[in-house]
Amino acid sequence: MQNSNHKPQDARQSKVWLVTGCSSGFGRSLVPAILARGDRVVATARRVSDLDYLQHFENVKLLQLDVTSPDHVLSEKVEAAISAFGGIDVLVNNAGYVLSGVWEELRPEDTKWQFETNFFGALNLTRVVLPHMRSKGAGVILFMGSISGWHGVAAGGAYSASKFALEGAVECLAKEVKAIGIRVHILVIGQFRTNILDAKNKKGKLDADEGIVEYAAIKKQMADIHAVTQGAQPGDPSLAVERIVDLGVLENIAHEHVDNLPLRIPIGSDAVSVMRNKCQDTLTLLDKWADFASSTDYPDKIAVPGYYR
Ligand SMILES: NC(=O)c1ccc[n+]([C@@H]2O[C@H](COP(=O)([O-])OP(=O)(O)OC[C@H]3O[C@@H](n4cnc5c(N)ncnc54)[C@H](OP(=O)(O)O)[C@@H]3O)[C@@H](O)[C@H]2O)c1
Repeated sequence: MQNSNHKPQDARQSKVWLVTGCSSGFGRSLVPAILARGDRVVATARRVSDLDYLQHFENVKLLQLDVTSPDHVLSEKVEAAISAFGGIDVLVNNAGYVLSGVWEELRPEDTKWQFETNFFGALNLTRVVLPHMRSKGAGVILFMGSISGWHGVAAGGAYSASKFALEGAVECLAKEVKAIGIRVHILVIGQFRTNILDAKNKKGKLDADEGIVEYAAIKKQMADIHAVTQGAQPGDPSLAVERIVDLGVLENIAHEHVDNLPLRIPIGSDAVSVMRNKCQDTLTLLDKWADFASSTDYPDKIAVPGYYR
């Protein structure tokens, strides 16, 4: 049997991972990387035949899973996943796709479907896994965020919105489950050479010759950027998945970081730049607009317990 050459590490118990979207890209690279650390995986895909590449591996169970399925189906899938190896220690909400196009031209159902997969898919599957992790008082949940969840571009609104939404929801979830013993991270992923911008995966409306003429240039620019980016992204998915496994099981991470893990973790040097630029731009904005913003307070404002720092 083909398997990772590594035996389960003596230093820690083998973990069980549940990963969505293992047919291609990050998911496809992640499963062998997890197995190579001696862990076990329930690898899932919309079409289980897309997981044939795993059939000679040990310690992996294959499961059909579309993250947009109704709750009762997700519950059945999670039950099957738990039974496969007796539990789930790490959930990776990886499944997702990119819908491109301008706000005015995208059909409501297209945008809705983007959210069904990228946002509600992760939200709903996580909700179904949570009772299991809560009963154990332990678990790790990783979400695939994006630099698009930090920085919006014209004709990228639907995808960006789904990732911005994930940022907000995951930030709250992390605070709800921390005391239970469940660790949550959103990985702010830069541009990586997966299949995400492949012609077969392209969804949306970027044809500059169709639709509203005022948006033609914006759509062309986005289509051109996709064309030159695909295959030339700076990030190597085979390296990213190693970092993802590191985060899942806290290996190869400096002690000072392990004791103080952040919610958001950038993956890719471009992710560091995008996050840094956003923070710096926001600080500059606040310096310039603080007086304007503060002019709306009551003169006799009193300190109330705040949700916010
Ligand atoms: N690559 C990047 O540059 C980048 C950057 C930022 C964030 N990300 C995020 O990384 C994650 C993985 O993307 P990728 O880059 O690896 O792209 P990919 O190669 O296109 O893989 C996407 C995976 O998601 C699956 N998927 C889509 N809809 C699904 C559904 N309804 N149910 C279950 N699985 C579904 C796809 O399955 P099918 O084969 O059935 O379509 C495929 O396995 C996504 O969340 C993406 O937003 C990627």
